[in-house]
Amino acid sequence: MSTENVLEIRGLKSSFFTDKGEVPAVNGVDLVIPRGKIVGLVGESGCGKSMTAKSVMGLLKYPGRIVEGEILLGGKDLTKLSDRELREHCGKDISMIFQEPMTSLNPVLKVGRQVQETLLVHDKNIGKEEAKRQVIDIFKKVGIPEAEKRYSCYPHELSGGLRQRVMIAMAMVCRPALLIADEPTTALDVTIEAQILRLMKDLCRQNNMSVLIITHNLGVVAEICDDIYVMYAGKIMEHAPVFELFDHTRHPYTKGLLASIPRIGDNPEFLHTIPGVVPNMLHLPKGCAFANRCELVQERCRSQMPELVTAAPDHECRCFLALEEEDQNGTGRKGGGDR
Ligand SMILES: Nc1ncnc2c1ncn2[C@@H]1O[C@H](COP(=O)(O)OP(=O)(O)O)[C@@H](O)[C@H]1O
Ligand SMILES: [Mg+2]
Repeated sequence: MSTENVLEIRGLKSSFFTDKGEVPAVNGVDLVIPRGKIVGLVGESGCGKSMTAKSVMGLLKYPGRIVEGEILLGGKDLTKLSDRELREHCGKDISMIFQEPMTSLNPVLKVGRQVQETLLVHDKNIGKEEAKRQVIDIFKKVGIPEAEKRYSCYPHELSGGLRQRVMIAMAMVCRPALLIADEPTTALDVTIEAQILRLMKDLCRQNNMSVLIITHNLGVVAEICDDIYVMYAGKIMEHAPVFELFDHTRHPYTKGLLASIPRIGDNPEFLHTIPGVVPNMLHLPKGCAFANRCELVQERCRSQMPELVTAAPDHECRCFLALEEEDQNGTGRKGGGDR
């Protein structure tokens, strides 16, 4: 385990065992989060992003469980720990922001107190007054107006957007080594979204914190991520540093996601979407899971699952065309010339 990496996921497979059979929601995922970097995990709804995050946090619920693989945090394999060990080991190092803030806030406690409690539990040396001061400070940083007043509000007295900002404050107040944010800004308007993403990036840079940001919207991660993983039907389809991924997109699925990012001035009636639907994970096709939606599909794609191959330095892609792509569309780099 390199100390340069906060978290290393190796060959992770997590499934649901249902009456109808095994649903391999995470199907052999490798993912690395370097210290101080922001990593994006992107893909359409249902492709296994939340399951990946929940596997790391030990939050998979019956009938779901980790089947194989390693999740290394500071050299320890989290998949080998008991629930209690996991909470002790994880609690101070990893924070998670969920999609649904209402389920993670205690409805009968004032929001300021909840965040203060989190801080007091993690930092035994801090006094109550100082903790309160820091909470109000982080409330202001995440864009909660009238922070002093909101400190004493109950969750139901706040709008959805404000509750989500409280969750973000709670996750960041202890300055974890790794913050996992699962669709943290999906419920917010675009101005607040941009503000929160910028804040995450600032906090990440200032504190050498790493972030795994999970989203279905490739546009969201473009500005703040260092590195992007694109996931489809439980597998990583493409992985590269953000500029490489946008400038030299190789996987047809990633191209589809890119084309689906709405741009200012677009007529909403003509927004591009990838035709077809995510396959049923109970009955995955034999070959490439994206084959039935792919414009470039070939015969072999329907019978064989392509491997994730290194198509260029730091650039991995799971597609038979990955190695041929650049020659075809002439994106500026000669095939093999600069490897
Ligand atoms: N309770 C469950 N029982 C069976 N399958 C489930 C359950 N929850 C999720 N899944 C399956 O796991 C897949 C991945 O889910 P999830 O990780 O939540 O997707 P994402 O976060 O990318 O939208 C889904 O496509 C679904 O088929
Ligand atoms: Mg999800």
